Amino acid sequence: MPDNSSYLVVPVFALWLFVLIAVVVLAVVLVTMMLRARKGSRLAAAEVEPARGPLPEFEKNGQSAAAALVQWSPETLRHILATELPDAQVIVVSNREPYIHNREGDDIQLVVPASGLVSALEPITRACAGTWIAYGGGSADALVVDKNDRIEVPPDNPSYTLRRVWLSEEEQQGYYLGFANEGLWPLCHIAFTRPIFRASDWEAYEAVNRKFADTVVAEARNERPIVLVQDYHFALLPRMIRERLPEAIIITFWHIPWPNSEVFSICPWREKILDGLLGSSIVGFHTQFHCNNFIDSVDRFLESRIEREDSAISYGGEISLVHAYPISIEWPPAQLGNLPDVAQCRRQVREKFGLAEHVKLCVGVERLDYTKGILDRFNALDELLTLHPEWIGKVAFLQIAAPSRGTLPAYQQLYEECLRHAEDLNQRYGREGYKPVLMVTEHHSQQQVYEIYRAADVCMVTSLHDGMNLVAKEFVAAREDEQGVLLLSMFAGASKELLEALIVNPYDAAMMGDALLQALTMSQEEQSQRMRRMREIVRDNNVYRWAGSMLLDAARLRKRIAVDRAVSAAPAAPGNVISLLDRKRVAVL
Ligand code: F6P
Repeated sequence: MPDNSSYLVVPVFALWLFVLIAVVVLAVVLVTMMLRARKGSRLAAAEVEPARGPLPEFEKNGQSAAAALVQWSPETLRHILATELPDAQVIVVSNREPYIHNREGDDIQLVVPASGLVSALEPITRACAGTWIAYGGGSADALVVDKNDRIEVPPDNPSYTLRRVWLSEEEQQGYYLGFANEGLWPLCHIAFTRPIFRASDWEAYEAVNRKFADTVVAEARNERPIVLVQDYHFALLPRMIRERLPEAIIITFWHIPWPNSEVFSICPWREKILDGLLGSSIVGFHTQFHCNNFIDSVDRFLESRIEREDSAISYGGEISLVHAYPISIEWPPAQLGNLPDVAQCRRQVREKFGLAEHVKLCVGVERLDYTKGILDRFNALDELLTLHPEWIGKVAFLQIAAPSRGTLPAYQQLYEECLRHAEDLNQRYGREGYKPVLMVTEHHSQQQVYEIYRAADVCMVTSLHDGMNLVAKEFVAAREDEQGVLLLSMFAGASKELLEALIVNPYDAAMMGDALLQALTMSQEEQSQRMRRMREIVRDNNVYRWAGSMLLDAARLRKRIAVDRAVSAAPAAPGNVISLLDRKRVAVL
């Protein structure tokens, strides 16, 4: 019999092929229809849903949603200390002291320095009844301390101890003016001022860090204080403390930006700086961006393990967390209690500076520093008055600039340039009884500064680069009347939170001029809508939340370390049990 099976195979195969093609075609048609339907609904949704703006920094970073529901106040901090960190001694270390005693003839004058760091930390240290260690730079500082170099402050209501550290002229020159302010300051800020690195400054910096480490150890009442190290003056201090007080919780907060790793690489002592900072339990920055830059620098220059998911760095057998904590101000600011209402402040400031009632007042308030974009404000005003001459005689710009680091050439040069620029604008646009620019290079008390904020129509915060910038937040806090416009640089950390400000690029004079015009012509209704939202943000994310988040992290760290210690004392787990504690000892606080 002939074998016919091969004839049958062909039609069966053709049938299967047909079925297969049909299934594939059907599937393609179905998928296409589904995709079209989804796209259509997305487009429809886009028409009704308002576009989403960027997320404010505090909603993105590691701070829990629960923290946002807490009303942060001095009581909250005291509660955290009592419940989460009982018996903990809080020691703050900064270069700048919160109260300076100066000789004034036969009298002693008390000065609160112009410093964002001081205005943020002072209410915190009061609430914690801690010890604040700082350089005693006032001409009468040594006269008022006890035999241990301590003084109880604030003078009118003592609530914490200020421990002063004395530095010689040479130490000040090398550590503060030299390495900190001619080296690290320009290195960390993108302001195109070349950092200067001198070996002798570095030696002084190391020696002064050592001196402060000795003082921390001397002030510590036990082995486990919580030490809050502040800023770029003390990059080496955390490691020096860690070597002597291994049980301490060391939280280091870097108040200025951290550059990208390529910029950072130019520092001759880059590895030592990173090693010093990694003596900290937690390294804090204002923004996630600066945390990332720091982590990248460590990754590039040190043998370490980076847990990006947990924002943790394992280095030399120790783990440091790197977290963003956006700094803020106290709410409500104490200064407001002693000030008259906005209308009265407005009258007083106008009278003091000889401004007519109809003239709109723009203000800038800061230390005289090349990172603050002061000259760029003058350019913006120039732009406005050139393109819109109808504003000549109707707008004035008051720049309050506290003298700062005045012996350094970069600062002297800035001072001269500011004076020249202001004079030029006054000559070109000034009239009888009208000066468009008023430049006041004197220290102003916080009270005076708040009075000026309340009198202003526009506040210009146009930093070329800034960690946070608390002037922006202070201006908002000062405006209970919900009026006034904030012009805010996109390169200041505050712009990540205060999205309702007019956000500007200070390098773009045309944009700044437009923004100034927009601010001057903004309706009262719009001003109040923007200001109301910004006030809510500063109120909810006040300085107590900043400190509270760090203290809560410190408390969790302590508990984790205690568990860790108990676990390592116990016999090892049998078999293949994976200990997450071993792998992630401080992860996900
Ligand atoms: O911006 C960094 C910073 O340390 C601030 O925290 C502080 O307000 C300012 O510099 C003070 O500078 P100085 O102590 O040099 O006057």
